Amino acid sequence: MNPPPSSPDLTRRHWTKQFILGSAAAMSGPHWSAAVLADVASTGPGPGIIRIKPSAFPALSNPGGSIQLLFSQLYAPLTLNRVSPDRFVTLDSVCSHAGCTVGRYIVTSGQSSMTCGCHGSRYDIEGRVFRNDQGISTEPAPDDLGRYETAYDATAGIIAITLPGLRLHIDSLTVHQKDQNGNIRLKLVFPVAFGAVYEIRYQPDLSSPSVPIRYSTTPSGTADKSTIGPATSGNFTAYVDAIGSKGYFTVGVKLTPVS
Ligand code: FES
Repeated sequence: MNPPPSSPDLTRRHWTKQFILGSAAAMSGPHWSAAVLADVASTGPGPGIIRIKPSAFPALSNPGGSIQLLFSQLYAPLTLNRVSPDRFVTLDSVCSHAGCTVGRYIVTSGQSSMTCGCHGSRYDIEGRVFRNDQGISTEPAPDDLGRYETAYDATAGIIAITLPGLRLHIDSLTVHQKDQNGNIRLKLVFPVAFGAVYEIRYQPDLSSPSVPIRYSTTPSGTADKSTIGPATSGNFTAYVDAIGSKGYFTVGVKLTPVS
């Protein structure tokens, strides 16, 4: 492993380039310990992309399988349905009638559906409200559920879900301090939303697994904090101690399966 460059400017450029370009895919299995992590797909503002392995969820083994995932107690869960062996859909579970949460897809011997607990509106596996032959809703809900772009890479076994409202990126990464022993402290700034829980992960190269790292909220404090549960929405500043001379940071949001 190469030592960090000695020039502060070079050091800053080196780290900035490596880390900002490097916010690439990273994922965990069903544990973060017991959660799936969303990861950063790009380092600039834009939609967040959640990547998950369906193999981590036995309920998604077969077509008709359905799970719900929550990344904030303030929002309704996402519903992820397996439509066919090679196609998944991700739906907003907010009912188009009066905004209650629609349950996961339930396969029955009769008419399988996702059903709203408030007034009973039914939706099919793709989130379409039940309609008559004229295309008019037969349910209290007038419209289909919202849908998120969902791509499935069957070879890699990974589902990528694009969430326009999930701001997950690193706004800036700078070298905050470098001491005479060559130890480098980095400053990361990234947006967070109240109600969600985040962690910072590191990987020395893209072929290595990312691992959670600890951070400090103050420039000179000990980096001993693991998760971030922000008290307010906005930009969050974290200080981390560099590991090696290059690598990749990822901000992950905790995504909890709804039981
Ligand atoms: Fe869903 Fe009324 S809110 S059926």
